[in-house]
Amino acid sequence: MPAPRHTKETLNLAAGAARPLTLAQRSNLLAPTAWGYAAWRARSLTWLTGQPFALEREATLFRALCRPRPGERWLDAGTSTGFYAGILAGAGCEVVAADLSPPMLAAARRRVPEPAVDWLLTNLEASGLPVASFSGITVGATLNETRAPDRFLAELQRLLRPGGTLWLMYLVRTGGPLQAALSRPALGGLTFPDPAWVARQLPACTRTHAARWGAVTFERYERGR
Ligand SMILES: C[S@@+](CC[C@H](N)C(=O)[O-])C[C@H]1O[C@@H](n2cnc3c(N)ncnc32)[C@H](O)[C@@H]1O
Repeated sequence: MPAPRHTKETLNLAAGAARPLTLAQRSNLLAPTAWGYAAWRARSLTWLTGQPFALEREATLFRALCRPRPGERWLDAGTSTGFYAGILAGAGCEVVAADLSPPMLAAARRRVPEPAVDWLLTNLEASGLPVASFSGITVGATLNETRAPDRFLAELQRLLRPGGTLWLMYLVRTGGPLQAALSRPALGGLTFPDPAWVARQLPACTRTHAARWGAVTFERYERGR
């Protein structure tokens, strides 16, 4: 397996101490979660949407709406085991695949041995990466897990260059009892945002596409020029 080009670490532990992680985020720091994640991911959208939703269907939707091009620089925000990073590398993009979990990044590097991917350990609520450094950003459900989704979205908007694409897949608020339970800090601390709230966190961006199956939404935003 070729070695990854770089593995950088910008996890600011002092900042992390001031901003404790959710239980869901902490569960991703455990090696067994990382070992099982790809298997869960392959089936999760079928369970969550209530219809056949293989990874290839999600990849096809992403490629059709976002059209990543060779040479573009993309960020995969909360890559876990590298699903979107792999699609982007396959499209010829330069990819920064970021996550705050070392075991997830280790599993991703094994699963996606692509030299075009830089694996980056960081908390994307405050990454320290240069402003406007990406043509596109993918977010596969990280919005549901991050501790402060407002800070997370503000940071992604900061990192997106004018005219750039932001792709979000997340579970929307349904008001159901299961979501209410999983939102409690002791049971995960997950967030299930309302799409209108998400749009308000991205004032420099326009939502160009939205498609929803059950509680799962896919949204494409474009940053103004
Ligand atoms: C639901 S999983 C993402 C799945 C992946 N994007 C995909 O499409 O298969 C959430 C991932 O985001 C990471 N994560 C959560 N909050 C984060 C943050 N603030 N910064 C960086 N990574 C984060 C977790 O460690 C976890 O691996």
